[in-house]
Amino acid sequence: VKKIYTAARVVTCDAARAGSSADSAGAGSPLGVIEDGAVLIEDARVAWVGRASDAPRDVDAEDFGARVITPGLVDAHTHAAWAGSRDGEYAMKMRGADYREIAAAGGGILSTHRAIAAISEEDLARDLAARLTRMASLGVTTCEVKSGYGLTRALEEKQLRAIATAAKNKRAPHVVPTFLALHALPAEARDGADAKEKRDAYVDRVVTEHVPKIADAKLARFLDAYVDANAFTVDEARRACDAATARGLSIRLHVGQFADIGGARLAADVGARSVDHVEHIGNADARLLAEKGVFCTLLPIASFTLKQEPPPVAMLRAAGVRFVVASDANPGTAPSESLPLAMAFAVRFYGLSPDETILAATKHAAQSLDEPERGVISPGNYADLVIWDLPHEHAIVQPWGTSKIARVIRDGLLLAD
Ligand code: NIG
Ligand code: FE
Repeated sequence: VKKIYTAARVVTCDAARAGSSADSAGAGSPLGVIEDGAVLIEDARVAWVGRASDAPRDVDAEDFGARVITPGLVDAHTHAAWAGSRDGEYAMKMRGADYREIAAAGGGILSTHRAIAAISEEDLARDLAARLTRMASLGVTTCEVKSGYGLTRALEEKQLRAIATAAKNKRAPHVVPTFLALHALPAEARDGADAKEKRDAYVDRVVTEHVPKIADAKLARFLDAYVDANAFTVDEARRACDAATARGLSIRLHVGQFADIGGARLAADVGARSVDHVEHIGNADARLLAEKGVFCTLLPIASFTLKQEPPPVAMLRAAGVRFVVASDANPGTAPSESLPLAMAFAVRFYGLSPDETILAATKHAAQSLDEPERGVISPGNYADLVIWDLPHEHAIVQPWGTSKIARVIRDGLLLAD
């Protein structure tokens, strides 16, 4: 099936188009904007992009007038397969309680762990599917989803199978599953005189059993670990990364949310695709990330919820690091389902430009997920599009709090309108 969509502005996010002198369309814009543009899609793919006046005449066309078309948004960091609610903790945090103290007292990740243990796999898959549908209605066509609340192998597998079930739906965002192998220490491995032995035994089990089994079952494409002062050490995470790499998984890491304990350097060492959070990172490590092509995934809803200072964005930019912006959707630090809200916060609180932010939630996010055929509107790529009910791409990063889409399309299929 062939179809043409036309609109006043087609934001391709295609650098090859931006500034190309052979084709005046898109010249001078970092986003590769085509004014009075057209996108020809054929089945699941983009077949042609250009000026509406140059588009083939014999194809069914739909004109969206003074609106903007962008690539479908890519949410590259979510814990969307959660269950339960942590509203009690939220109220405590708003009164000044510390996230790490709540977690140390058995709340936080352990609280959601108990909800994951209690819910059936079917209900978890159904709740995730509903959440992904709501994300699609905000413009998201690709969504990374982490496990990490199971903690035991059986429950991590249950979470990942629920993610796989939700991923089968072609009328929902494309799902990229991540095994968050080291997220929190289970309650039974925490206390007592033998706490150290129990901790080591848990990490051993994750490295020698969880990672190989989950990788071999193809339940995940990425491995993640929470490398921070209140979580896991660089040495513990490195063992999980090495086991994952040996089994063909790529790496993305939670790094520097509360303290810089060397997670960024580890990420560069093991060839991670992304370091996420990075409120705490030094200049030498930033340059290393830039050199190794490791993306920095910024999660401004989390730092907003925790009332933290932003990451050193100007320093990271000057070091040459490429940014991703993601929702971090989770019941504790980012109880939100909205990538557009994260984009608005990235602009207002983090000082990203609107153009940087749009690239960070499309092209760069897709690249960080090893999805080069998404995030950019160009011939041969998947037909993942958002037609915004907005007159300019810079309006996308305003903090609407409501859906501003006219149409969301993934693989050429309608997700929302
Ligand atoms: O990205 N920092 C660790 N993981 C999540 C929070 C998980 C939770 O609190 O449930 C984050 O902020
Ligand atoms: Fe996270």
